[in-house]
Amino acid sequence: MFHIDDLLSVFTSDIAIDLGTANTLIYVKGEGIVGNEPSVVAVQEKDARGAKSVRAVGKEAKEMIGKAPVNISVIRPLRDGVIADFDVAHHMLRYFIRHAYKRGSFIKPRIAIGVPYGITEVEKRTVREATLGAGAREVFLIEQPMAAAVGANLPVADPAGNMIVDIGGGTTEVAVISLAGIVYSKSVKSAGDKMDESIIDYLKKKYNLSIGERMAEQIKLHIGNAYPSDKREFMEVKGLDLVAGVPKTIEINSDEVRESLSEVVKSIVAAVKIVLENTPPELAADIVDKGIVLAGGGALLKNLDELLREETNLPVIVAEDPLKSVVMGTGKILEDINLLRTVSLY
Ligand SMILES: Nc1ncnc2c1ncn2[C@@H]1O[C@H](COP(=O)(O)OP(=O)(O)OP(=O)(O)O)[C@@H](O)[C@H]1O
Ligand SMILES: [Mg+2]
Repeated sequence: MFHIDDLLSVFTSDIAIDLGTANTLIYVKGEGIVGNEPSVVAVQEKDARGAKSVRAVGKEAKEMIGKAPVNISVIRPLRDGVIADFDVAHHMLRYFIRHAYKRGSFIKPRIAIGVPYGITEVEKRTVREATLGAGAREVFLIEQPMAAAVGANLPVADPAGNMIVDIGGGTTEVAVISLAGIVYSKSVKSAGDKMDESIIDYLKKKYNLSIGERMAEQIKLHIGNAYPSDKREFMEVKGLDLVAGVPKTIEINSDEVRESLSEVVKSIVAAVKIVLENTPPELAADIVDKGIVLAGGGALLKNLDELLREETNLPVIVAEDPLKSVVMGTGKILEDINLLRTVSLY
């Protein structure tokens, strides 16, 4: 039967979005990823007319973290994978969509957006409203572990166990998927942000050095690791000496960073083990053959795959482009009408 949506789809593109705690990515059907920015907004508390206004969004706003004067608040509107500041999240989403999607605005796009597994009805409504408000004609909510698995090319529709571990900024979500459904899943708040906080705490305790969250992330990206390797690496770190009250530079090594990250890493490993223990035996047997697939930016932590291999005795594979798994998977699901019907949340 002819449907109005078929006609509309000639004029519009579908959009897939990964609205992440750390990064927001936007994919347009037929074009690929058209936007990839930190989920950060800088708000000027009072401008010349006494009103609130947005100073910067995305990369430019992230640069301002820890550097802004008192009248500018640098806000990350998502916490632990869910929207914490609705107004700012809504504004950010609208900004990203407008910048990434330059088609005429006369017909609104259909938008599929990734959400954490097991979010509440209230949280679902919040995401749906923010997406509709940002210009969507129709909204599909896709669970992120499913999206990550599809984005990592796992055969999610097969009657076989697929295990995905998505380590983001706010949460680590571990899931076993079979027949296009999530069989068992666990989400923990041990992920990238907690790693950064641990590095901050460690340097404070050990060296009386206070550093900002951006410096902490840089340390993690450069010499962070989860399992020892042959080569010890070093990095110069600048911060504030808490005793003398003056700026100070110290050198730290990769073993220290591993030590600082160990609690967070341990709870990621524990989450993986809990999911394995709760996986039905037939599906567990598939995972023994196919292994565990890691996605999300945290999958890039050096030697985390190595550690998981040792802890589980299973093959561990890092997805090809782990920061893009969720958005690519959401895009693929949006293009597959049967899969879209099966996996979208209502
Ligand atoms: N090479 C790397 N090593 C370690 N961590 C990394 C690396 N690259 C990125 N990260 C971390 O990955 C996190 C961002 O990952 P990602 O974009 O997948 O999160 P997100 O989807 O925004 O968050 P969430 O899924 O929790 O809502 C950040 O904490 C970032 O510091
Ligand atoms: Mg994510």
